[in-house]
Amino acid sequence: MLWIGTSFKMTKTRGEAAEYAARLRHGVGRSGIPGVQPFVIPSATAIAEVGAVLGIESPVLVGAQNAHWADSGAWTGEISVLQAADAGARLVEIGHSERREHFGETDATVALKVRATLRHGLIPLVCVGEGADVFARGGSVDHVLAQVAAALDGITDTSSVLVAYEPVWAIGEHGREPRPEEIEGVHDALRREWGDRVAAVLYGGSVNPSNAKALLEVPGVGGLFVGRAAWDISGFLAILSTAAEAAAV
Ligand code: PGA
Repeated sequence: MLWIGTSFKMTKTRGEAAEYAARLRHGVGRSGIPGVQPFVIPSATAIAEVGAVLGIESPVLVGAQNAHWADSGAWTGEISVLQAADAGARLVEIGHSERREHFGETDATVALKVRATLRHGLIPLVCVGEGADVFARGGSVDHVLAQVAAALDGITDTSSVLVAYEPVWAIGEHGREPRPEEIEGVHDALRREWGDRVAAVLYGGSVNPSNAKALLEVPGVGGLFVGRAAWDISGFLAILSTAAEAAAV
């Protein structure tokens, strides 16, 4: 199964997200895409809207971009896993590099959030990745393995966990599209260490319809996590159809 998803990050009104969801529902159809598990992660404001438009039986999973580890309480500005689930999320993105960089997310808070997500039966999507400096000195594998180990430390059953390897130097507007061979080492290491224990390891960072095929061919890549290139529904549908072809091989 190839997991193919997008996070809207801080984009789209509820109306825009609903329109996107309607076109996604049409593109994916009722029975979905064989061999592909699509998911979409809107802003918290639009989770319920997107879920409602996709419909309860949708083959597309809806997620939240973040959730707190506590079930409720005095945590102004946060939403809990329970609240995300109540809005319709079945997956929680945890530890994206933008949250680590700008919002003080650490390996310790990531681990707490993974546990809270599993406790409530949602799927944690754990994002890991090294910065340009670590990449330049050849430390990517150690860095990423340490992040995953910290996130999943002490959890006996990690079989529902998704890991997204997202090198920080490849993410976003200032990111650089990787050559497939640049991500091979980390994916190989993740496959050896975690391949049997997690649901899938995805790649993310400057994925687009032109490079999706080559990235999916990297051994150990079990899906793609896409930002900008999927914010227009045609981009997401193009990547989904590339994945459908890859899954059919
Ligand atoms: P990008 O974002 O595809 O826009 O590089 C990826 C991500 O942050 O997950």
